[in-house]
Amino acid sequence: MRFLTFSLLCLFFQRCSAEGQDLGGKAFTFPAETDNSYVKLQPAEILEHLGAVSVCLRYFTDLPQNNKDQSFFSLATPAHSNGFLLAKYGQNRHQMYIGGGKLDLWGLPDELNEWNSFCVTWDSETGLTQIWLNGKPSSRKAVFRGGSLVGRPFIVLGQDQDEYGGGLHKNDAMVGQLTDVHMWNHVISTCEIENFSKNKGFEKGNVINWHDLEFTIRGNVVLEDQITSKSDSQNCSDGMSIY
Ligand SMILES: *[C@@H]1O[C@H](CO)[C@@H](O)[C@H](O)[C@H]1NC(C)=O
Ligand SMILES: *[C@@H]1O[C@H](CO)[C@@H](O)[C@H](O)[C@H]1NC(C)=O
Repeated sequence: MRFLTFSLLCLFFQRCSAEGQDLGGKAFTFPAETDNSYVKLQPAEILEHLGAVSVCLRYFTDLPQNNKDQSFFSLATPAHSNGFLLAKYGQNRHQMYIGGGKLDLWGLPDELNEWNSFCVTWDSETGLTQIWLNGKPSSRKAVFRGGSLVGRPFIVLGQDQDEYGGGLHKNDAMVGQLTDVHMWNHVISTCEIENFSKNKGFEKGNVINWHDLEFTIRGNVVLEDQITSKSDSQNCSDGMSIY
């Protein structure tokens, strides 16, 4: 019976081992706008209480036709479907939802069809929240002051949970690529954020670590080598010469 349950779980989640993978140099590609494509992340430890959060990631997108939301990272708790949500709306408006409270952060235009580094920090004590786009800070604004995220977090990439572990809508889907996703249960320093944005050394996420990641792919998501827009990553002279 136990074996049967395990096999069914394997089939269902397409993944059986509880070992993290090092995804260095890889990216998740979300190629289409759907209501069922996402990557579920398993936190390194079960956290029952979050009073501070930092998340860093890199995204690559263009502009959706109707300037709709694109959701990068969605953490839901049993009490708050928008426990910790990172999204963008258009090209210069980033959106945070923390403990159900919403913040718009304006005026940090991202580069279309380029990798953008995106970090956010939040501390419950003051509620102060700030994002950094490509190393540039936003205004500091407060949300969910004194609150905390309680219960087992359900974390997905590329979609927005409107219910704990569900409630996905096409309109919130991200279309593009994500890489280098890290999450901490504390506020990381601005030096660390700067280093992250410049691809230099930083302390890897203690809750979500891209280099030791347990994940489950659902729907239309492809894990592939990170394609960069710079030609230095690809060697086109390898047997490609026509002369
Ligand atoms: C930032 O990167 C530099 C160069 O790699 C390194 O010496 C420094 O310790 C890093 N700072 C942090 C906070 O990790
Ligand atoms: C590209 O390939 C050529 C021929 O194999 C090799 O000599 C060269 O070092 C490679 N360049 C890079 C940047 O990998």
